[in-house]
Amino acid sequence: MDIVSIRDLSCEQIDEIMDLSEKMIPYASGEKITKALDGKILSCLFFEPSTRTRMSFETAMNRLGGRSLDMGTPSMTSLAKGETLADTIRMLESYSDVIVLRHPHEGAARLASRFSQKPVINAGDGAGQHPTQTLLDLFTIKKNKGKMDGLKVAMVGDLKYGRTVHSLAEALTMFGAELSFIAPPSLQMPKDTIKQIEKMGGKPKVSSKLEDVIGETDVLYVTRIQKERFPDLAEYQKVAGIYRVDMDSLREAKSDMIIMHPLPRLDEIAPEVDRTPHAKYFDQAFNGVPVRMALLNLILGGEL
Ligand code: CP
Repeated sequence: MDIVSIRDLSCEQIDEIMDLSEKMIPYASGEKITKALDGKILSCLFFEPSTRTRMSFETAMNRLGGRSLDMGTPSMTSLAKGETLADTIRMLESYSDVIVLRHPHEGAARLASRFSQKPVINAGDGAGQHPTQTLLDLFTIKKNKGKMDGLKVAMVGDLKYGRTVHSLAEALTMFGAELSFIAPPSLQMPKDTIKQIEKMGGKPKVSSKLEDVIGETDVLYVTRIQKERFPDLAEYQKVAGIYRVDMDSLREAKSDMIIMHPLPRLDEIAPEVDRTPHAKYFDQAFNGVPVRMALLNLILGGEL
């Protein structure tokens, strides 16, 4: 089974991953030990920088008693001699049981999945999707709010290039959340994604002002404006730093509103917010471990 898009999973399958993720927490923290995936090997193939996704996948595999192989910097592999992604994937398929791929091009993970008999997990494909981030985001929301149906979720920042919000907006719509998209017009959610959400029954609000929705929001999902995705630096400079969540902007927020961020952050969340009960982004990053453990265990048929 490949996980390329969040739409590769049904609500029932996501619920199953959420339930198993909860059971994985003591194993993820090292309180309990398991050898559920003893003998299994995970390959990491990252063409873009990563801290959380790569390390939490490796931690997840290690905590399950399996092993992980990191292909390392692409320039130090035979890709630098001109080997294609397809041939590289064929090699990893023969060396490991599951492949985790991050690539700057949208569609790269789908392509890789066609060349591999072993499961391929998309760890982010350009401005496309980041489905495992979505699973840990859903888990974080469920843990804090107990439900997703009817929750008001505001997504703020780089919604055009932000793969985390593309996957999450679709998943939250599947579970009945009500969405607001807060971005300057040049970084609004892509029309195709909005159409898809409307087709799924969602009616997202679109605005450029956080003040329009902050008072009614249950979950504020903040994203970084991604300099590396802009074809023109001048366009980035026009929107850099446009949103900053600080103590002042939280005055109108509900007392139980939670703030999430896939990280890394720049200056879009002020450090003083970290000390408030709203801040859940570091818990969210930890949740990457139990959720990825649950996913790997289900894909590779481990028994706890
Ligand atoms: N959230 C996320 O994808 O972080 P990394 O880029 O550090 O993996």
